[in-house]
Amino acid sequence: MIDIHSHILPGLDDGAATIEEAIAMASCAIADGIKQMVVTPHVKSRTYPSKEAILDKMANLQDVLQKKGINLLLLPGAEYRIDPELPRQLAKGELLTINNKGRYLLVEFSDVSVPDYTADLFFKLLQLGVTPIIAHPERSSIFIEDHNSLYELLSNGALAQLTSGSLTGYFSPEIASTARSFLEKGYVQFIASDAHSRSGQLLHFKPAVREVMRLLGEEQGRRLLIKNPQCAVRGELIEACELMKKAI
Ligand SMILES: [Fe+2]
Repeated sequence: MIDIHSHILPGLDDGAATIEEAIAMASCAIADGIKQMVVTPHVKSRTYPSKEAILDKMANLQDVLQKKGINLLLLPGAEYRIDPELPRQLAKGELLTINNKGRYLLVEFSDVSVPDYTADLFFKLLQLGVTPIIAHPERSSIFIEDHNSLYELLSNGALAQLTSGSLTGYFSPEIASTARSFLEKGYVQFIASDAHSRSGQLLHFKPAVREVMRLLGEEQGRRLLIKNPQCAVRGELIEACELMKKAI
């Protein structure tokens, strides 16, 4: 499997604190059946960490993993805090799309707000040929309370990524039930770890996989866990989900 959301790069954000922790996270990922991992440090300020800093750190960690015989392929990316400047930065080549393919951009909201400019911002990204992937909407109080606000963004072309630990109750029962609801409504195109440390979310990947298969069945589950992440890292089109239902 391919994990499209992780904080494995050490020393850039609130993810791995040391190279040793990053190595331990890589070993956990392999044990959970993950073969490729997109590195997605938080980019909250407009300048740090830069694209170059992420690529440098990734190359360094890949080298260390290779020397230790840990067969996890790292791919470039970042998790961008929603910001009206994103389209302009994207047009200037300053942003790291998933695997640097210029097709998908991982975007996060704060847990408590979805700015009014979001629909306009997403429209501008789509006009530039880049599809926004909303990171863990099930953890946003706005989307938890109003599923339609997420539906509107998805029906206008955005995609959504669920965090594996959300499904297994790692955060709260409310987030777990929201995660299941979004899955059943067909709002979700990806499951990813959003791993920040050697413990926590990453260790929830296997049970989350079982839960996705139980809720959606084999075919749809494989689409979320295997096919869509493959398309994302290849920069290929991801088909809209036929299951999408408007919240009532
Ligand atoms: Fe994240």
